[in-house]
Amino acid sequence: MTTVTGSGLDVAGLDVDLDRTPVVRSVSCAVAPGGWLALIGPNGAGKSTLLRAIAGLLPHRGTVHVDGTDVTRLRTRDRARLIAYVPQTPVLPPDMTVRDYVLLGRTPHLGYLANPGEHDRRAAAKTLGALDLGHYADRRLAALSGGERQRAALARALAQEPRLLLLDEPTSALDLGHQQHVLDLVDELRGSRRLTVVTTLHDLTTAAQYADRLVLLDGGRVVASGTPAEVITQDVIARVYAARVSVTTDTDGRPVVTPLRGSRA
Ligand SMILES: Nc1ncnc2c1ncn2[C@@H]1O[C@H](COP(=O)(O)OP(=O)(O)OP(=O)(O)O)[C@@H](O)[C@H]1O
Ligand SMILES: [Mg+2]
Repeated sequence: MTTVTGSGLDVAGLDVDLDRTPVVRSVSCAVAPGGWLALIGPNGAGKSTLLRAIAGLLPHRGTVHVDGTDVTRLRTRDRARLIAYVPQTPVLPPDMTVRDYVLLGRTPHLGYLANPGEHDRRAAAKTLGALDLGHYADRRLAALSGGERQRAALARALAQEPRLLLLDEPTSALDLGHQQHVLDLVDELRGSRRLTVVTTLHDLTTAAQYADRLVLLDGGRVVASGTPAEVITQDVIARVYAARVSVTTDTDGRPVVTPLRGSRA
């Protein structure tokens, strides 16, 4: 097993083809342990494809190291101890209860054929509470709202206690309060557990508030990377997104993006 030191995540020279179409090209990026990287870019830029490749779910060229381990070579189960991934549109088993679903997150930590133990049940219950789902533990997943389902998928990923958390648009179905709560929770875990985080986020102001580094993808390639203030500028957003925005700065020096409507006909 190849090891490199220093990074929570190290991606080098990643290429992904889907149905022989190049979708991700020559992507390299590194995130320090406990760091938060946000992938941004317009629809079709390759953000979800890149996340799926990092999660080991797509064939690719190039290397992916997590805490120094070359994860491409790991078996699925060993990879699942290191990496948790929540897709943009999670598909959940409708008849399973929320509690059992979140407990599935513990599977990579169990011995073969072993049942979840006390520690696993406690980890699942704690995560359910943290995501404000304690009252729904015995509900079937089909009987949750869209935002509650999204929180259940996040709860399963957190119960997995990974080293690297990959979240694809984790707040797309959440109300403002739950958005902040979920992002604050993830932020706290990177402090307390040195959890390394990679998210895609369409809301650029939110991405700038939570991530310490941004990678802007366009046409499958990295077109800008750096701190939020380095990447999010009016010119770059106008060029890459074909959007009218004003970019101001909050009291922490982070960019705030305000969309501007066009002139009325
Ligand atoms: N099987 C496939 N064959 C060819 N191209 C594909 C295939 N699946 C997806 N694509 C294309 O790959 C590109 C990248 O898709 P991806 O889902 O990674 O984009 P994204 O940046 O996550 O976009 P969004 O912001 O809409 O979620 C898109 O143009 C998409 O149409
Ligand atoms: Mg996507």
